[in-house]
Amino acid sequence: MALEIQRMFATYGEGIVLHGVSLKAEKGKVTALVGRNGAGKTTTLKALMGLVSAPAGQIELDGKHLEGLPAYERARAGIGYVPQGREIFPQLTVRENLELGMEANPSVHEIPESLFETFPILREFLNRKGGDLSGGQQQQLAIARALVARPRVLVLDEPTEGIQPSVVSEIGRVLGQIKQDVAVLLVEQYLEFALEVADDVYVIEKGEIVQHGAPDALDQEALKQTMAL
Ligand SMILES: Nc1ncnc2c1ncn2[C@@H]1O[C@H](COP(=O)(O)OP(=O)(O)O)[C@@H](O)[C@H]1O
Ligand SMILES: [Mg+2]
Repeated sequence: MALEIQRMFATYGEGIVLHGVSLKAEKGKVTALVGRNGAGKTTTLKALMGLVSAPAGQIELDGKHLEGLPAYERARAGIGYVPQGREIFPQLTVRENLELGMEANPSVHEIPESLFETFPILREFLNRKGGDLSGGQQQQLAIARALVARPRVLVLDEPTEGIQPSVVSEIGRVLGQIKQDVAVLLVEQYLEFALEVADDVYVIEKGEIVQHGAPDALDQEALKQTMAL
């Protein structure tokens, strides 16, 4: 299972925000896209999902081209998206949130048991409203909701944002587990976490990839400069 983005451009109105971003994420690895606030991380994911204007670029998921498809068809092709800020439904129960996740894959009719092995807290809280969960629990719900549809690629936008350290390490552990079955593309501004969990890292600055490599192969000086505010 592999996702490849090639020479992706994205625009908001007149402004070009991505200038030919290329990256690859494959099963067995956590691939991280890191960069400071405003670098274009979220826009890269939105361009991938068909949620912003992307006038040029290619997206291949296991050989199938997705560029040009509407957003729901990209999700159905097997991209599970955990957006920045989680966006779970606070008024719906944990179970209902998970059931909504199934809609991306018509062949899934029930919540797989394995999901509760990964996230035991969700079984316990199945009938609670999403809004009553802690931030860390909501993030676990958002990840679980994306996994319910058995995606080929799991894409996460800053899953550590606003979450306490114990849950951050729990999410790191879960990603290490999930990558055995699904390609994981992790967008992060929290560099230390990204370097710890990722097998492969892309560094984005002003809408361009400026470095790519294994965490210990990156130019640390350049990386510090890229990430500095
Ligand atoms: N809806 C929008 N309209 C106009 N510009 C936007 C919009 N969303 C993001 N941008 C701009 O695009 C650039 C990249 O933003 P974003 O992808 O959100 O960065 P990141 O996720 O890396 O923090 C920033 O300069 C930001 O101001
Ligand atoms: Mg962002």
